[in-house]
Amino acid sequence: MQIYDLEEIISQEEINKKILFLSEQINNFFRDSSFIAIGVLKGAFFFMAELLPHLKNCETFDFIQAKSYEGNKTTGKIRILKEPSVLLKNKNVLVIEDILDTGITATGIKEYLLQRDVKNVYFCTLLDKPSRRVRQIRPDFYGFEIGNYFVVGYGLDYEEKFRDKRGIYILKFKS
Ligand code: IMP
Ligand code: MG
Repeated sequence: MQIYDLEEIISQEEINKKILFLSEQINNFFRDSSFIAIGVLKGAFFFMAELLPHLKNCETFDFIQAKSYEGNKTTGKIRILKEPSVLLKNKNVLVIEDILDTGITATGIKEYLLQRDVKNVYFCTLLDKPSRRVRQIRPDFYGFEIGNYFVVGYGLDYEEKFRDKRGIYILKFKS
């Protein structure tokens, strides 16, 4: 049986504050234009639910599901498991992500959305791990920059576990 240690690095209170900060930035950016929020399932579920009520010019929201991970290793490509059903043509789209890691998922989602003739694609991610990037992509809005750790909680999982924890934790494996 695998044993883990969880070390909290970001508390729910810090996330709440950051959500207010991010919503100000986003509202300022979309002062004169509207957008559609697309949450990346399942990881962005909590973040999106708490961010959206603060956003002023969001027309509506939907979800996309794309996968690049099996366990804690990236596979290098993505599969779209769920497509959004709202009309996206000529819309500004704000993609809401839990974490930007290698950038493979975000790049794949961006390509998919551009094929759907959206006007612009923007990214808002709660966490950014820039040291792991293999694609040239940067979030337009991000909450916290973190080092090269595998983290769980607040939507983020390890093999579908720990998503329901209220803060962000580093997952450490004990052998
Ligand atoms: P990327 O394609 O490598 O940028 O990874 C994006 C996706 O991988 C995220 O949406 C997460 O679902 C998953 N992921 C990346 N890093 C972590 C992590 O530290 N913990 C949990 N999931 C992660
Ligand atoms: Mg995810």
